[in-house]
This record gives sequence, C-alpha cells and structure tokens, in this order.
Amino acid sequence: MTNEPHVVWHEHSVSRKEREELNGHRGCVIWFTGLSGCGKSTVANLVDHKLHSLGVHSMVLDGDNVRHGLNAGPGMLKERHGEDFAKRFGLGFSAEDREENIRRIGAVAELFASAGIITLTAFISPYRADRDGARALQDEGDFIEVLVDAPLEVCEKRDPKGLYKKARAGEIKGFTGIDDPYEAPENPELVLDSAGKDAETLADEVIDYLRGKGKIK
Ligand SMILES: Nc1ncnc2c1ncn2[C@@H]1O[C@H](COP(=O)(O)OP(=O)(O)O)[C@@H](O)[C@H]1O
Ligand SMILES: [Mg+2]
Repeated sequence: MTNEPHVVWHEHSVSRKEREELNGHRGCVIWFTGLSGCGKSTVANLVDHKLHSLGVHSMVLDGDNVRHGLNAGPGMLKERHGEDFAKRFGLGFSAEDREENIRRIGAVAELFASAGIITLTAFISPYRADRDGARALQDEGDFIEVLVDAPLEVCEKRDPKGLYKKARAGEIKGFTGIDDPYEAPENPELVLDSAGKDAETLADEVIDYLRGKGKIK
C-alpha cells in the first residue's frame, strides 16, 4: 500500500459494509466528466437533491468548490501561507496539476464512498488515465462514469462564467477544449445528452440508472 515504512494501514473498526447496512444502501462514486459548461454541476446537484429527498445519503464534490479548499491554487494559498508554500502546494491547471487534482479527488471520493455515501463528483477531469486512476480505487460496479455530453459549440455558447471568452482571448491558457485536450471516456457507464435534453431529465436518467443497478430502491 505504501513505500513509507512508518505509514501503516489501520483497519477501521466499523466496516464499509456495516456503514452501508446502517444507511440502507451501498456507497458508490458517480463520476461526472465533460467540458466546462456541459452541465456537470447542474446535473450532479439535481441528482444529489433527488437522492436526499429519497432518504439516500449523498454528497457532491464540485470542481470549483474543491479548488477553494483542498485543492486551492497558488493565488489563494499565497495570501495565508506565503509564496513558498503556495508554490509547493498550490494546484493550477497544468497537466501535472490536473493529474494531482484528480488524484486527490479520487482519494476523497473513496473516503466518502467507504462511509456508505453516494458520492457525486463534478470535475472536467479531462484525462482518461486520471479518471481510470479514480476508478481503480472502487470495486467493480461502484464507479459510475457519466459523460455529460455536449459539443464544444454548445458549451461555448452557454459560457455562464465567461471562461471560453477569456480562453479565446488568450487570457486563460490551457483551457480544456480550446488549447488543452479533452479525452472522452471510451466506455462510460452512462452518457447524458446535455445538448438535447434538459438537466432535470438527465438527473432522472441517473436516478433510473441507480435504481436499475439496485443501488437505490
Ligand atoms: N441539460 C442542459 N440543458 C441546457 N442547459 C444546461 C443543461 N445543463 C446545464 N445547463 C446550463 O449550462 C450552464 C453550465 O452548467 P454547469 O452545470 O455549471 O456546467 P459545468 O459544471 O459542467 O461546468 C449553466 O448555465 C446551466 O444552467
Ligand atoms: Mg461545474
């Protein structure tokens, strides 16, 4: 598990199975992926709300929110912890930092899922290998990769945060879909047609999928 000899795994006294029995449902990870503006946050939050109403324990890990805390960028860290600290630990959007961003999220999602929670993650997560790394932490069937599918033109037209506009103007470098690649999943568990259907319908498709797989009643 580790190459650090002083770091030894401590078994939890309450198992994942016991936590799931108490909750009345299994934990799992629902991993939304797709271009900026494709609807990941919107759909994940709708699903979260529906699950909560059904009495299911769920939690959303959202890209923008996580980058305010756990995976804060150098700009945010500098103010509080100084320049050196910010340089060492702040995460930006280079391929390397995106990899580390997703590695941490995968690890946090694993913690939530093992607490018996249906964990919804809403990150662009553009690289296939990084998503596969998060998948590898889950048992078969417990990682549900959801491609929120909308063509770049549609996402760029929505542009609720004005990010595409900035990327096109060269004010943001390495923007996914513009000057950084998006590697679509090859075998996602679910594809949501975000250009053709409204977010409510897509959230219902996720709920139906979970019911079909016996994850919820
Ligand atoms: N299925 C959909 N159809 C139309 N507009 C949508 C849909 N899903 C999301 N949107 C809109 O697209 C914009 C971006 O959605 P958001 O969830 O913030 O995307 P992401 O988290 O993938 O960047 C928002 O203005 C949202 O209201
Ligand atoms: Mg979002």
